[in-house]
Amino acid sequence: MSFKNSKVVIVGTGNVGSTTAYSILNQGLCEEIVLIDVNKDKAYAEALDMAHSVYFMNRNINVHAGDYNDCADADVVIITASAPMPKDSTSRLEMLAPSMRIMKSIVSSIMASGFNGILLVISNPVDIMTYYAWKISGLPAKQVIGSGTNLDSARLCCELAKLYDLDAKSVSAFVCGEHGDSEFVVWNSATIGGKKIDDVMSDNAPRTGSATKQSLLKMTAQSGWEIFSRKGNTCYGIAASATSIVKSILFNENQIYPVTVYVDGAYGLKGVFLSVPTIIDKTGAKEVVEIKLQPDEEAALQKSASLLKSFYKELEM
Ligand code: LAC
Repeated sequence: MSFKNSKVVIVGTGNVGSTTAYSILNQGLCEEIVLIDVNKDKAYAEALDMAHSVYFMNRNINVHAGDYNDCADADVVIITASAPMPKDSTSRLEMLAPSMRIMKSIVSSIMASGFNGILLVISNPVDIMTYYAWKISGLPAKQVIGSGTNLDSARLCCELAKLYDLDAKSVSAFVCGEHGDSEFVVWNSATIGGKKIDDVMSDNAPRTGSATKQSLLKMTAQSGWEIFSRKGNTCYGIAASATSIVKSILFNENQIYPVTVYVDGAYGLKGVFLSVPTIIDKTGAKEVVEIKLQPDEEAALQKSASLLKSFYKELEM
């Protein structure tokens, strides 16, 4: 009798890739984690360092460095590699041109192994990179997911939780659209403990203070830069966000997260990868959840979609 291991391969062992691997390891989500990097020494060293940590963990997990052949029987392959973000960068979109070449070579190598699992893209600009990875891979669209605004949603929930002195998990709010400046909040469906956000804000005026929906969105969209401008990268938030997506896939959880998926029909959109609430199970992006949007939210979603689609031509080169 033989059981198939659950296996996650992570491509790129920079800050994001390594932290994601460590987060998955720490939560004991699978039997095997494989690290791949063009810098083989780096992948080897990160894997060895992590392997030593397993002694202190709850589960015995086989973490090791590998190559693209390891993708053949992987359940999930996570792509974290991208061109380095310029130090004075102000938009993730600036990374598109240099990241394209890297993405093409990575996805081609993954697919050459015979991979047929779920591809999770983290590399920025994530919405466009997810579309590009899907195009190159030839995988069914539901098997290609980007980390998208799952992290932005967590950041918004954190801000709201801080304001009202709560556990962020008591806040339910979705940031949708582009993981970037054109993102927006679906305020109408946002709640704290089941109470509508508008009511929470007005019933708690002293705590709400000068905060407005606009200022909260601005803070959310800016918080990646708050971190990046001081330490040159972000890694813990994005790693935890990716881990939550991997968990819903591997455990067939059917969690709903706002992630970058192929939207073709829902929300009146055609053929675009961007973040909307999505049910995630072992098949990948099982189903998009269509929330009734307010006219300004609808306009914001269309704006995100047009912006992202305007880059698709560049990818044909
Ligand atoms: C961030 C990166 C992952 O927002 O884009 O932290």
